[in-house]
Amino acid sequence: MRRDYHAHVETALGKQASSRAIHAAMRKRDSFRFYSALRTTSQDLLYQTVQPGIERTASTINAQVREHARGKRIGSLSLDSTLAIPRSVSAIDIHLMPGSYHTEYEADDATMGLVYDQRLRISTFGLFGPDLGDIGRSISRYIAATMPDLSVRRVLDLGCTVGHNTLPWKETYPKASVFGIDVAAPCLRFAHARARSMGVALNFQQMNARELRFPDGSFDIVFSSMFLHEIPKKEIGVILREAYRVLRPGGLMLHMELPPDDQLSAWDSFYLDWDGHYNNEPFYRAFRAAKLPTLVAAAGFSSHNYLQAVVPSWNAMDETHWRQTIATTQLVDSDKTGRLTTGVRWFFFGARK
Ligand SMILES: C[S@@+](CC[C@H](N)C(=O)[O-])C[C@H]1O[C@@H](n2cnc3c(N)ncnc32)[C@H](O)[C@@H]1O
Repeated sequence: MRRDYHAHVETALGKQASSRAIHAAMRKRDSFRFYSALRTTSQDLLYQTVQPGIERTASTINAQVREHARGKRIGSLSLDSTLAIPRSVSAIDIHLMPGSYHTEYEADDATMGLVYDQRLRISTFGLFGPDLGDIGRSISRYIAATMPDLSVRRVLDLGCTVGHNTLPWKETYPKASVFGIDVAAPCLRFAHARARSMGVALNFQQMNARELRFPDGSFDIVFSSMFLHEIPKKEIGVILREAYRVLRPGGLMLHMELPPDDQLSAWDSFYLDWDGHYNNEPFYRAFRAAKLPTLVAAAGFSSHNYLQAVVPSWNAMDETHWRQTIATTQLVDSDKTGRLTTGVRWFFFGARK
């Protein structure tokens, strides 16, 4: 498809065409139709592979989750059955995942958490690391390496799902209290049991990131990964203002995300936007089109304190090589940023308060 684009579409539209214009041209081409058919079919097969076995054994799985949750009393879980699930989660099967994140099929159900875990394990081909925590691990170690003077006693992960990228913050900062919040109870039940079974003390709470039940200035780091692109555009500003509120002065906000449209080549932008058209990701393209420094400044942060980086995968190389790599500038405009290729690298943006 890329060859076809270079040969026929780039030559007609030029190198600076928008993702929208490229999409309009590529839609007519067999290469794009074939690619899209493969992607949608493989996404469908992913859930057909993962879900039936989980459905058949749901009661056993839930009993095991309860058993782990009863285990060694480390970390905590606090659910709020009165919390309204946002329509952006409940009204659609996000990335075609049947039941989205919140659906419960029996009392105290945790199976949507396991569905998410298993579909991610298959679809990422090992590139998220053995425990699927490579984003949190790479970024937390990057912060520890590049900001050694930052005092980190409390960390908050927004939209943590099953805690894959919450857990590495506790590894990197073992003395910190680490919290993960999400609206989806099944994912949080699974997250809590998972963390306990791994012997890691994490605190999970069911709440909406737009109304955090934490006091002002109560965190040193507010983090999220793969979260904001699933949030309606008008909610993102509210969530970033909440992140600002709960950070202490000098604290750090970090969001690992899709690289933005204005920092990628025309091809890469078009290629990333595929999910926004065909994978039930209705908020994806608006997020990618946003001007990130403007969003951050609107949340209250000084524009001088905006920061972003591209962090090499901790999982992909040995520590010496990783430390050498973070010492060099990593450009966003690369077909490896946020991609599932060898040498994948994670983009984040944020600010110091
Ligand atoms: C793509 S997942 C995030 C993945 C996770 N951060 C990770 O790194 O594995 C998006 C998550 O955001 C949650 N979510 C969506 N809207 C939310 C909101 N307003 N407040 C809190 N969580 C929300 C969903 O329930 C879902 O678990």
